[in-house]
Amino acid sequence: MSTLSISLPGGIWTGDLTVTRFGYGAMQLAGPGVMGPPADHDGALAVLREAVDLGITHIDTADAYGPRVTNQLIREALHPYADSLHIVTKVGATRDEQGGWPPARRPEDLRRAVHENLENLGLETLDVVNLRLGDAQGPRPGSLAEAFETLVDLQRQGLIRHLGVSNATAEQVAEARSIAPIVCVQNMYNLAHRHDDELIDELAEQGIAYVPFFPLGGFSPLQSSALSAVAARLRATPMSVALAWLLRRSPNILLIPGTSSVAHLRENVGGAGLSLSDEDLAELDKIGR
Ligand SMILES: NC(=O)c1ccc[n+]([C@@H]2O[C@H](COP(=O)([O-])OP(=O)(O)OC[C@H]3O[C@@H](n4cnc5c(N)ncnc54)[C@H](OP(=O)(O)O)[C@@H]3O)[C@@H](O)[C@H]2O)c1
Repeated sequence: MSTLSISLPGGIWTGDLTVTRFGYGAMQLAGPGVMGPPADHDGALAVLREAVDLGITHIDTADAYGPRVTNQLIREALHPYADSLHIVTKVGATRDEQGGWPPARRPEDLRRAVHENLENLGLETLDVVNLRLGDAQGPRPGSLAEAFETLVDLQRQGLIRHLGVSNATAEQVAEARSIAPIVCVQNMYNLAHRHDDELIDELAEQGIAYVPFFPLGGFSPLQSSALSAVAARLRATPMSVALAWLLRRSPNILLIPGTSSVAHLRENVGGAGLSLSDEDLAELDKIGR
């Protein structure tokens, strides 16, 4: 499995964070609407253990999933964690009784969220924390300074190793970088949703990872006749082709596809080795343009 080493430019902690380019997004493990426990508790644990057995060293999560359910499943399935495993979490949104995702970005919300993530995951330090901005409809403009500085303060206290931003505009990414180094940006991006094309290329030049969420389309899985045609030609599944395209799109892209199924997880990891010809790429590129 290929790896991406992210060199951390300066900052309070320096060193290397190395993860497999193929990671796993744990959001789908919670119950329907990402609320409550999974219908199949043991099945959810099996997916997490399979991810690690397959060699994945990057798991994406948040206390907002469930809420708390996903983090507690990760702890139950995988604690004590292998040194090679890096769990990336995010703070900045909470859940309401209707299953909404209201923002929670006041300094006191963020401090509480970091401590709750540490407790639910059973960790003393969080490897990477993303500040989740915007709302369920996408990024929203506005300064992130107060919220991001709060996380930098928690980083200085030793509770967080590395920082990132999520659901962010290009201006917010630049603002965060003017305050402290970031190792990743986690935004919505896939074959059909290519708003961040320019940002991805800029981040690649800076050695910052770009982690697309909804790589398979999220709650509305990708559907495209061009994708199906390429997949049929390669005797692969459309999901595998969508993931292989992301891996080819830019060397700084790290994948975190979600699934609640061991079979889908194996299928997706297997598809990561798929090689796409220039003709395949040209056809796939037209989908989101
Ligand atoms: N920062 C943010 O604001 C934010 C927002 C959303 C998500 N995220 C992160 O991004 C991760 C990925 O997003 P996501 O899980 O929502 O969406 P996704 O990876 O685009 O798609 C997941 C969906 O695809 C299905 N699927 C996966 N593999 C499949 C296969 N081989 N064949 C058929 N269907 C398949 C899954 O169903 P099955 O369960 O049936 O396989 C699930 O419904 C999340 O887990 C989360 O960690 C972050």
